[in-house]
Amino acid sequence: MPALETLSPASLLPFAIESGRGARLTDDQGRSYWDYYGGHAVALLGQGHPRWVEAISAQARRLSFVTTIAPTSVRDRAIDALCTFARMDRAFLVNSGAEANEAALKVARKATGRSTVVAMERGFHGRTMACLGVTESGHYRADHAPVHADARFVPFGDLDALAAAVDGDVAAVIIEPIQGIGGVHEAPQGFLEGARRICDANGALLILDEVQTGIGRTGEAMAWHRAPGCRPDLVTVGKSLGNGFPVAALLLTEAMADTTKPGEHGSTFGAAPLACAAILAVLEAIDADDLLARARSIEAGIRAALEDLPGVVAIRGRGCLLGVVLDRPARDVAAALLDAGLLVGGANDPLCLRLCPPAVLPFEAIDAFATALSGALEAP
Ligand SMILES: Cc1ncc(COP(=O)(O)O)c(C=O)c1O
Repeated sequence: MPALETLSPASLLPFAIESGRGARLTDDQGRSYWDYYGGHAVALLGQGHPRWVEAISAQARRLSFVTTIAPTSVRDRAIDALCTFARMDRAFLVNSGAEANEAALKVARKATGRSTVVAMERGFHGRTMACLGVTESGHYRADHAPVHADARFVPFGDLDALAAAVDGDVAAVIIEPIQGIGGVHEAPQGFLEGARRICDANGALLILDEVQTGIGRTGEAMAWHRAPGCRPDLVTVGKSLGNGFPVAALLLTEAMADTTKPGEHGSTFGAAPLACAAILAVLEAIDADDLLARARSIEAGIRAALEDLPGVVAIRGRGCLLGVVLDRPARDVAAALLDAGLLVGGANDPLCLRLCPPAVLPFEAIDAFATALSGALEAP
């Protein structure tokens, strides 16, 4: 019986991917591809990273599963390491980015006693009902109305519009520091700090959705660390956090954690020992393999190799989350790149190729990308 694939675009690629190593994927015919898609910004360490494989295997042998009914040392260590890495005080572990955002919205509503959320046009926060409510992009919401009713949307980066939208009814403002699916748009300088000030002036909370940008992807531990004056009340992370082991987290300040009661929110699989082992392996590998610096060098290499190519209009984003904006539909170019052995992602901006390579991408892969892209752009 085939899986129910109509609920997700499960088979966009015309072949099966069977194996992978580092930033290389191999299909069922034995053909290899440079992975510029990174499992939708998940595979920060690439495929089969030895530290990650060993950590999960060792944990599976020692203690495969208990719920949060009992403390475990691996959970304590993972949460400590994650809070230190992200510069937040407390962490609640869940299974997906949408679930982390649901938890953030729930905490914000209870902590403020308000229900309105201000979100950004072009933003994306997940596919559950509350997340759809703060996701402006129409095609995710179509057919699911009415979704969360109390959202107000403002143009991303517009502080005047944000100030006008935030008042005493607003529980929280939710922002992606770099809008990923929206087309890799980085918040203009000063926007996050300005949002922090507007929230403070109105008793509203600041939620940063770092599901895509967090855990080293942009060349900083968290994207908001580039704007340290905007310390959020709540931050969500996912994707790279487990490098493919499903885990996500809501990170909180102490003040936010104090507004919650034990048992108020929970998840059977959240904070599972294997997930915690994966988190520890990812954070240790980022440090041991110097992956923040590597992500920044990959960005520099890609910018240098691509920015003067005819047909490339702009390169947006940071580190291993880059949008290459073209003068023509990205979909056709992505197909040509696939033929040339490079897998790239897309975005809701039809002119944008989204690149989310593993931070272990070798520099030879950048030369291969530049050659293939210039070939694709020269083709009639
Ligand atoms: C910024 C952002 N938030 C939330 C999500 C939802 O995460 P998940 O698919 O793990 O539920 C995504 C997924 O792409 C995302 O990019």
